[in-house]
Amino acid sequence: MRIRQIETAAVWTCPEVVEMLDRYIIGQEDAKKAVAIALRNRWRRMQLPEDIRGEVVPNNIILIGPTGVGKTEIARRLSQMADLPFLKVEATKFTEKGYVGRDVDSMVRDLVENSISLVRRRAEDRHRQDIDQAVEDKLVGILFPPLAGIEGDPERKVRWKRSQDKIRTQLKEKVLEDRDISVETEQSSVPIANIFSSAGEEFDASFGESIKNMFPKKKTTKKVTVAKARRLLLDQEAEARLDMDQIITEAINLVENGGIIFLDEIDKIAGGGGGSGPNVSREGVQRDLLPIVEGAAVSTKHGPVKTDHILFIAAGAFHMTKPSDLIPELQGRFPIRVELSSLTEEDFLCILRDTEGSLTKQYEALLGVDGCTLTFTEDALEELARLTAELNKRMENIGARRLQTILAQLLDDLLFEVPVTKTGSVVVDKEFVVERLTGIIQDEDLSRYIL
Ligand SMILES: Nc1ncnc2c1ncn2[C@@H]1O[C@H](COP(=O)(O)OP(=O)(O)O)[C@@H](O)[C@H]1O
Ligand SMILES: [Mg+2]
Repeated sequence: MRIRQIETAAVWTCPEVVEMLDRYIIGQEDAKKAVAIALRNRWRRMQLPEDIRGEVVPNNIILIGPTGVGKTEIARRLSQMADLPFLKVEATKFTEKGYVGRDVDSMVRDLVENSISLVRRRAEDRHRQDIDQAVEDKLVGILFPPLAGIEGDPERKVRWKRSQDKIRTQLKEKVLEDRDISVETEQSSVPIANIFSSAGEEFDASFGESIKNMFPKKKTTKKVTVAKARRLLLDQEAEARLDMDQIITEAINLVENGGIIFLDEIDKIAGGGGGSGPNVSREGVQRDLLPIVEGAAVSTKHGPVKTDHILFIAAGAFHMTKPSDLIPELQGRFPIRVELSSLTEEDFLCILRDTEGSLTKQYEALLGVDGCTLTFTEDALEELARLTAELNKRMENIGARRLQTILAQLLDDLLFEVPVTKTGSVVVDKEFVVERLTGIIQDEDLSRYIL
């Protein structure tokens, strides 16, 4: 049972993982390959007999490449499609003033919280139909309560039933959402969470649950709209069906065997120094990170969590430092190094045109809501890609991030005008692009601020 979870999360072969990543990320084949292998290795490990399974440690990865080339995006998409708990954290966060060594543990605690939401969502999905039905029954019961003495009168009963069905249909069609009704809500009479939250990680959550159950629940009746009542009841019905203890156990297990931590800006803590002033030395941070990456038991409010098999994907530009500037112990724990390449004009074109959920598709969808059909012609996309590449060369190279500022600038007026002074369809062609952007691009100072 414990192992099955991970199995379902990663039954794909490496080429299948790469293929899925290809839908969102252009190029960067080496990085895709590396993360695909890491994911598959996890699943392979879970198939092993217990004794050897414990021996296999993850081959953590360092993604090396300039900003805006897809480092974060690859890790994020990987965790998303594998439905695994994921956390992104900047390594530089730990060099800040006020930092105490133990804070590195917080990333494991945050990862556990993410995992709990994920497992809870899965459990809710499993009970979805059940929950929805119960909520609907309750709402119908409130809007159209059962009549006394109806049993002995078949004719009335049929009529009553027919009216009830009508209410049910109206609820489904959401036409009663604004009507006020009274719902009963249950609240713990003591706000346990508040009392104990300050105790932080030392406090065992199951202890809190058991205390909470010792106090009587206070029932109150609230007058709210049907829409609000639906939300309250959804929570109540979900709560009643979910076994939080089991969800937490599953969530911790999922973190221990499938968790992914994305450690950004690792290059900024490489090399010694940086210890002057209020900042914590870079090497100090590496030393703090080491036990977690090597495998330790971190205490959380849900109990200890073992980090031995958490996968770490680190990323950095490594302009000033090299991976070999990391302390040797840490280098050994990140044996896979892949370089991501700078993006070219062709890449930008593919990003705009071919990726799922690309910026152009996002804007088309957004304006579609206001009844405006937006379309980009091929030569407009080519021009946008050309300008992106040119600006990256002329100013700082911020990779695909440049596309966001350029498109925002390009469509600014349109986004304002639709649907008031502008309606119908808009075709963004090369002329449209040139007209809106050339002025800004030719003005060196202006483009520095705007693009
Ligand atoms: N190779 C790529 N293919 C598609 N989109 C990309 C690519 N590289 C970057 N992007 C887009 O650019 C933005 C920044 O990318 P990100 O992965 O956060 O960069 P970084 O390498 O600095 O972590 C994201 O919106 C991402 O979708
Ligand atoms: Mg990034």
